[in-house]
Amino acid sequence: MARSYRSQMYNEKVLEHFMNPRNVGIIEDADAIGIEGNPVCGDTMKMYLKIKDDIIVDVKFQTLGCGAAIATSSIATEMLKDRPLEEARRMTSRKIADALGGLSPGKIHCSVLAADALKSALASYEAQRQGADTSN
Ligand code: FES
Repeated sequence: MARSYRSQMYNEKVLEHFMNPRNVGIIEDADAIGIEGNPVCGDTMKMYLKIKDDIIVDVKFQTLGCGAAIATSSIATEMLKDRPLEEARRMTSRKIADALGGLSPGKIHCSVLAADALKSALASYEAQRQGADTSN
């Protein structure tokens, strides 16, 4: 019973990332942190980035949320690790959902959490950099 419910809601890849999420945790000396919440369901994601020479050398996340929120957070971190900032800026919720083989229509909004947490982290990183530039 539970198995057929899960297979209707989530494909195998989503389930796999939900059961074994990658890059869970925090980065103590993160260069940027992004926090995003969905006001409707209350789910939240915190994304930590370690950046060196415009490359995301490490990325971790903490997500309090549904299976799709955790799976999209997990795959988003895999897509970002060791990638240039320029590529991260082009990340969209659609790309994240596609990398998981798609989400059911009722769960598409969950992929927005990871994309928006990334946007928030990148915006905070840019603001810090601009602040550092103007203080010199
Ligand atoms: Fe809230 Fe999935 S139901 S992010």
